[in-house]
Amino acid sequence: MTISYPPGVRTGVVETIRTVLSGVEFDMLQFVTDTQPQFGDFHYTKFGWVGFYMITDPDLMHEILVDRPEEFYKIKLIKYALGPFLGNGLLTNEGDFWKRQRKLAQPAFHFKRIESYADIMVDYARRMLSAWRTGETRRLDREMMKLTLNIVAKTLFDADVSGDADRVGDLLTRILEASNDRLNAAVQLPDWLPNPKTRQMYRDIAELDVIIQRFIDERRQSGEDKGDLLSMLLQARDDEGKPMDDKQLRDELMTIFLAGHETTAMNLTWTWYLLMEHPEVMARLKAEIDAALGDRPATMADLTNLKYAEMVIKESMRLYPPAPSVGREPIHDLQLGGYTVPKGALLTLSIYGLHRNPKVFANPEVFDPERFSPENEKNIPRYGYLPFGAGPRVCIGNSFAMMEARLILATMVQQAEMALVPGQKIVPKQLVTVRPANGIEVKVSLRETEKVALPA
Ligand code: HEM
Repeated sequence: MTISYPPGVRTGVVETIRTVLSGVEFDMLQFVTDTQPQFGDFHYTKFGWVGFYMITDPDLMHEILVDRPEEFYKIKLIKYALGPFLGNGLLTNEGDFWKRQRKLAQPAFHFKRIESYADIMVDYARRMLSAWRTGETRRLDREMMKLTLNIVAKTLFDADVSGDADRVGDLLTRILEASNDRLNAAVQLPDWLPNPKTRQMYRDIAELDVIIQRFIDERRQSGEDKGDLLSMLLQARDDEGKPMDDKQLRDELMTIFLAGHETTAMNLTWTWYLLMEHPEVMARLKAEIDAALGDRPATMADLTNLKYAEMVIKESMRLYPPAPSVGREPIHDLQLGGYTVPKGALLTLSIYGLHRNPKVFANPEVFDPERFSPENEKNIPRYGYLPFGAGPRVCIGNSFAMMEARLILATMVQQAEMALVPGQKIVPKQLVTVRPANGIEVKVSLRETEKVALPA
């Protein structure tokens, strides 16, 4: 097959070197929305020696993720970027081994099981709010990260990280920044080359490893079956009756730990940002939550009465998909979108670009939760909205995440109001997830402050 490339940006080697040396950061989110009108939904960019395909078309997403998933691997680059941190966990694993691990982990995410996590989610959100005071300024993104980190540790490993949450949060932030540098690196340097950033990243990973190992050791010692993810993984046996070794166990836990908190934290952060910018949406949401809950804590049963909250969260994930893209590479030369794409090529399936594609969503820049009303939602093209991916590698935690986001948002809106601290420039930045580049500072005021009671 003769390889042929779709149109797109082409930059020569000299110009690319000049750009790299000038230290200008590549802004992937801007790049996607800038290039789509000119080159369409399937184009090929070559910056000097690095080439990648950009895909923002629902049908091509469907073809790659759902129709022919066995013909694509996760990209090597993601393994280079996240491998030192996540090892061979679910997110980066492939083939039969991935299939086996996914089967082992799946029961921990069944609806019946995650239902039992609802009270923990609400309880932790109320604890967070009970420490807030009217008039304080807080970093919303950091608060959300701490909260979802505590929740994933408690629900899936029954571990209490409250004491370590700040430290763990700092470590994760630094590791993800290092991973992102590796993702965007012009050249993939081997890890044995002396590089202070790489050394620091490995030190941070080692420190986090000690915390994860503590979860494993404590559970092994107690021998208790708590029915959570950690117990399931500890009891899992392969066809020869052998348990998972400690390294694989560590990789799975680290993966869930990362994938299970940062994404939801970013979803909540962006949702609050959009609500602060759209008081009319906030007013309607508040009315729904007050009517559904009054003063009492939210429960799983309330979710059926929190339909508007769900619409708001979905629309927030459209504009700011926490996982902004997924990467794939063909395992052999193949035909795609009328072109022959070579084995090993880098395919960027941009969820951010798909969700802002005017062919999929009218006025894509406008925040409008009505897009997800029951009447309107069915008109969205089937593969036009993919915050959790699709096909066999679809997010394992999507029901967990949707439940958590709704319960936390409802609990927060019930008890707190927030306003953006003036003068901030809030810009999204792709850092594995989509984060606000400089964080988001908010002024907090508690609604009927004195009613906020510490959970028992
Ligand atoms: C708003 C929240 C979340 C978003 C937007 C999100 C998004 C995604 C996406 C797009 C993928 C597919 C990646 C690919 O195809 O390459 C994925 C995979 C995954 N997610 Fe999530 N996720 C969220 C929450 C969670 C939670 C709460 C957990 C666990 C508690 C989780 C665990 C995972 C795992 C383990 C995978 C890999 C699955 C596999 O390949 O078998 N995620 N997620």
